[in-house]
Amino acid sequence: MISANQTSATIADSINEPEASPFVPLPYKIVNKHHDTQDIATITIEPVDKAIPPYKSGQFNMLTVYRVGEIAISISSPPTSGKRIVHTIRDVGAVSHALFNLEIGDVIGVRGAFGTDWQTDEPGDADYLVVAGGIGLAPLRGAVVELAEKVAARHNVNLLIGAREPAQMIYETDMKRLEQMGVKVYKTVDMADSGWKGSVGLVTELIEKAVFDPKNTKALICGPEVMIRFTARKLIEFGIAAESILVSLERNMQCGVGLCGHCQLGPYLICRDGPVFPWAPPVKDLLSQKER
Ligand SMILES: Cc1cc2nc3c(=O)[nH]c(=O)nc-3n(C[C@H](O)[C@H](O)[C@H](O)COP(=O)(O)OP(=O)(O)OC[C@H]3O[C@@H](n4cnc5c(N)ncnc54)[C@H](O)[C@@H]3O)c2cc1C
Ligand code: FES
Repeated sequence: MISANQTSATIADSINEPEASPFVPLPYKIVNKHHDTQDIATITIEPVDKAIPPYKSGQFNMLTVYRVGEIAISISSPPTSGKRIVHTIRDVGAVSHALFNLEIGDVIGVRGAFGTDWQTDEPGDADYLVVAGGIGLAPLRGAVVELAEKVAARHNVNLLIGAREPAQMIYETDMKRLEQMGVKVYKTVDMADSGWKGSVGLVTELIEKAVFDPKNTKALICGPEVMIRFTARKLIEFGIAAESILVSLERNMQCGVGLCGHCQLGPYLICRDGPVFPWAPPVKDLLSQKER
């Protein structure tokens, strides 16, 4: 970890550079907004002028609400979306609340794209199991669209989604389109209502419904850490190799580029070495560690 003096010197140097800098937010305008649930909204943004560099599914941006603050939010659109970027935000605190309440036409700042990705740009010849818990589907959305486009015609692409209750399911319109593209979508909730037609129970209980060849399956998991741990263990019980499992992690972030140390997890900085990691030591052993 570097000192505060070093950090501010590096930031100042970078701001003085004429080219786009990972420290300077670029203005993006909100061109679409959709309320997924009572506390989750999805926005589409496009650059006012200069765009951030191309991104990959699983990476994240740092979004600034001017005069409020900046937070890490995953990119939810596939890289094929061009300059338009989709972000899904849950209203949990000061900055996410301000983002959640912005309207079409409002301008935010964007730095990115940062971090590792789901490797779906080159998906290979394999079945896929994509497992999402709650808003954990947001960082996976771009990857699922890519898999639908590149893999679903030849191999099984399964999307397993768990949510607290039916009203907490996000991207309902996308699901129909993904199913038409050949993705098998399985859903479960903790608590059902009278209109619910899916399963009730843990997302891990959906694994036995999915169709896949364990010896040739890649798995992508995102959700609460307890869900990630149980899902990864269950997938290994089903015969999927640990090295074929990728997980996405979150920690509080500030710089987003490996300088401030806020997102440290053991030997890793999640903004730089993650957020997507292979399910291997030491990451899988570190998940019980609390945030700094
Ligand atoms: C790589 C990455 C990708 C992310 N992607 C998304 C996304 O696509 N959509 C989305 O809604 N959120 C995402 N988050 C989480 C988001 O960054 C936090 O919810 C946000 O920082 C909260 O800031 P706040 O100012 O709104 O709330 P604060 O006022 O800072 O905190 C409010 C509450 O949220 C909790 N909180 C703060 N940071 C996090 C965090 N990182 N994870 C979980 N709880 C947190 C706090 O403990 C507190 O209880 C992502 C985080 C990371 C690190
Ligand atoms: S957020 Fe600063 S090092 Fe990761």
